[in-house]
Amino acid sequence: MARIGIVRERPGETRVAASPVTVGKIRALGYDVIVESGAGAASSFPDAAYTAAGATIADREETWGADVVLSVAAPTDAEIALVQPGATLVGILSPALRPDLLAALAARGVTALAMDAVPRISRAQSMDVLSSMANIAGYRAVVEAANEFGRFFTGQVTAAGKVPPAKVLVAGAGVAGLAAIGAASSLGAIVRATDPRPEVADQVASIGGTYLEVVVPDEQKEVSADGYAKATSAAYDAAAAKLYSDQAADVDIVITTALIPGRAAPGLLTAADVAAMKPGSVIVDMAAGLSSDGKGGNVEGSVAGERIVTDNGVIILGYTDLAGRLPQQASQLYGTNLLNLLTLLTPGKDGTLTIDDTDVVQRAVTVTRDGAVTWPPPPVQVSAAPATPGADAAAATPAPKKGLSAGAKTGLIVAGIAALFLVCAVTPAPLPQHVLVLTLSVVIGFYVIGKVAHALHTPLMSVTNAISGIIVVGAMTQIVVPNPVVQILAAIAVLLASINIFGGFAVTRRMLAMFQKGNDK
Ligand code: NAI
Repeated sequence: MARIGIVRERPGETRVAASPVTVGKIRALGYDVIVESGAGAASSFPDAAYTAAGATIADREETWGADVVLSVAAPTDAEIALVQPGATLVGILSPALRPDLLAALAARGVTALAMDAVPRISRAQSMDVLSSMANIAGYRAVVEAANEFGRFFTGQVTAAGKVPPAKVLVAGAGVAGLAAIGAASSLGAIVRATDPRPEVADQVASIGGTYLEVVVPDEQKEVSADGYAKATSAAYDAAAAKLYSDQAADVDIVITTALIPGRAAPGLLTAADVAAMKPGSVIVDMAAGLSSDGKGGNVEGSVAGERIVTDNGVIILGYTDLAGRLPQQASQLYGTNLLNLLTLLTPGKDGTLTIDDTDVVQRAVTVTRDGAVTWPPPPVQVSAAPATPGADAAAATPAPKKGLSAGAKTGLIVAGIAALFLVCAVTPAPLPQHVLVLTLSVVIGFYVIGKVAHALHTPLMSVTNAISGIIVVGAMTQIVVPNPVVQILAAIAVLLASINIFGGFAVTRRMLAMFQKGNDK
């Protein structure tokens, strides 16, 4: 039975790698758990809570000397010296940025698993630390902005006057961005968001935001193949710069979360944009820590870890520890991500950790093994991108235009009207009336349904289904006819039409219940 050590993090890191709840579940996998004294203090998890969950409280040397060491931050050289050769260390190791750390861990003979190297694929979502932390950070960014902002987020009409709602712009609608949009719109603000990946438009709308598209030619649009964005084109950047200038002059809060993995954060808001903002406006630059010089992540003038007030009274927050500012929540989610990884690595639930190199997730997180650096792993292709018909071919040939040209549309309408007149002129009554009614219903139906959002098509269908209630009425008038064949057919018609109507309403109820607040199901 292997021993798992939960270490106490260095000052400044408020999170801890396990909560009392996850400790109990790690023990259920067959492991013995030791927790360094005071490890959970900053997350409001006292030692006694860990003891109650079945862990033993230990000192620093003993914890770092466990068979499997769970940490949040990457270890220092002194800490690496405490890890046993052959032991496994799990933490947020930034393998792409820290070749020195990987070399030191490999030299010590430690197997290192980087939680921040979990691939962004559906199967690995439960272990995806970057997403769980970005989710918390996005929420916290809104809380920080609300704390600095001198007004309500929501609009109000009070006896003392009308209060307009705050306007929030979120740049980058990935995990952090979507969390920020959700938090800001639930506080009542008007939220707009932009992102080079057009596929996020529906997600933005579904949580109360308005998607602002940066209009560029189709062939220059970004399509994500691995869940992350690619570098934007020059045409995109130029169009986006205009959008940011326009928005900066209008909005009260800007939250920037734009990230392209493996690159410095893209600059989005210029000093001129910031200067155009109203005094008292707040910017949270979540990417402030990602610029090469620590200055200006997505926003010119932001500084990593700092609160800056510009000459025109705009507050720029460059905090890099946003997830850690909700330590209990962050520790709980990080601990659960770790627990899910341990569950994957302990198939026998016997307290024995095994790493299967043929599994894409296990291979991706293993950054050192058997004295060697095993980073980077082979690339992982995921299905985030829609199946595009030959990307190369698309690049070579201009994208075909969608739909009919205006001329073709007019031609079709004229031909349709002419055909209608012809039918009405030559066919005997009552066919012309029927054709006219049919044509009008098609036209009205087309325009009515065309204006309904896709998500509401199912409820709409079920309501229109109810029109088939007329069949029930017809069948009921026939059921009294003294002919058994007619009676049977009428009974079948009543049955089928009723299933159609009531089934449709049942589906609608279920769908609408999904949108109701306070529904626990
Ligand atoms: P993500 O990869 O899910 O989202 C990044 C988004 O930025 C993507 O949707 C991408 O399409 C978009 N993007 C890329 N280039 C852009 C551009 N030029 N303009 C607008 N959008 C662009 O990343 P995630 O997990 O949401 O993280 C977002 C940021 O938050 C990262 O910079 C991350 O490092 C940071 N972060 C900061 C924390 C803090 O404490 N400050 C804590 C956690 C994350």
